[in-house]
Amino acid sequence: MRIAVPKEIKNNENRVALTPAGAQEFTKNGHQVFIQESAGLGSGFPDQAYKNAGATIIPTIEETYSKGEMIMKVKEPIEPEYSLIQENQLLFTYFHFASNKPLTEAMIKSKAICLAYETVEKEDKTLPLLIPMSEVAGRMSVQKGANYLEKPLGGRGILLGGVPGTLPAKVLILGGGIVGTQAAWMASGLGADVIILDVSLSRMRHLSTVMPKNVKTMMSNEFNIRHLIKNADLIIGAVLIPGAKAPHLITRDMLKEMLPGTVLVDVAVDQGGCIETCKPTTHEDPTYTIDGVLHYCVANMPGAVPYTSTLALTNATLPYAMELAQKGWQEACDKYPELHHGFNIIKGDIVYEAVAETFNLPYVPVSYYLNHH
Ligand SMILES: NC(=O)c1ccc[n+]([C@@H]2O[C@H](COP(=O)([O-])OP(=O)(O)OC[C@H]3O[C@@H](n4cnc5c(N)ncnc54)[C@H](O)[C@@H]3O)[C@@H](O)[C@H]2O)c1
Repeated sequence: MRIAVPKEIKNNENRVALTPAGAQEFTKNGHQVFIQESAGLGSGFPDQAYKNAGATIIPTIEETYSKGEMIMKVKEPIEPEYSLIQENQLLFTYFHFASNKPLTEAMIKSKAICLAYETVEKEDKTLPLLIPMSEVAGRMSVQKGANYLEKPLGGRGILLGGVPGTLPAKVLILGGGIVGTQAAWMASGLGADVIILDVSLSRMRHLSTVMPKNVKTMMSNEFNIRHLIKNADLIIGAVLIPGAKAPHLITRDMLKEMLPGTVLVDVAVDQGGCIETCKPTTHEDPTYTIDGVLHYCVANMPGAVPYTSTLALTNATLPYAMELAQKGWQEACDKYPELHHGFNIIKGDIVYEAVAETFNLPYVPVSYYLNHH
């Protein structure tokens, strides 16, 4: 198969979908790999490393897209890329369709096959291609939050762990999944008082057995949230309802109840955010303040640590990409049934129910395509 890897063009996105090690695995198995010039540079992989792995370096993004039967990317295609996508091309990348109508419409029009990292879902409901980036974003959310709590950056001026004789900061984490768990490890490790809110009792049972003593769990509901936000220093949004928009657990009116200089880090921003006043920001201009409350809502947090993120992501994507290259997208589902859930749009049809529902568009079950080959 011909595999093409364009350079990411989204603001401050330095990750790349394939490492030289991955390229070598493909070429070793008889596939052709086309990498856009300098695509790996931001992650620390020069063109020569890909060449040594048997890949061909392509000078322009247009040509790179035109070479691939499968396009491997990190972020969803953005407007200038829409017209480069061809009918029947397999796109393997993050899409986050539910929060992006123009992208959904463009991909329907392209008649490409859109396999979304974020909805590949195993039988036990885990999301193997979201986990590595969630781990990165979760750990980073506390690093960022601690930083923005500093007074000169707009925060309350409280040190996360305090010092002897002072109380540590209070960290509230909405959602105790991958992001929430990693955030809790980091915040508790720095000495903060941490509360994780979730709706899953079994999840909270698990967390309460593995987490240190300075991490508590509580049922997520409006009553508890309204009570806790009044003296929280750092609030981290980490809720996920797979494939759908995040629920607004913190509403606009609640900001007035918070302490001035409270920091909100809404990691769920890529699914619309679980804080009503959250709107996506970039690493260049990451924060804004409403009612004295600082918001950090960068939609591609892992993009700031591309070395770690690229390795973490490609460790998880490569086995799937290899099977897709070896067998094609329909047969690859035999070995990895979790890929079924990854298909969101196929040849103009929405095949992921939550996306169709979000935009009130027709839905075709993915089995229609997978059983007819
Ligand atoms: N901004 C970024 O750069 C970035 C990076 C990675 C992940 N993310 C996003 O972070 C979010 C969380 O991802 P994850 O991997 O931790 O998901 P996850 O599925 O592991 O965890 C989500 C948790 O939310 C809980 N939840 C659902 N409804 C809730 C509610 N009403 N109140 C409290 N908890 C609730 C679930 O029970 C689950 O434990 C996702 O939106 C993901 O896309 C963003």
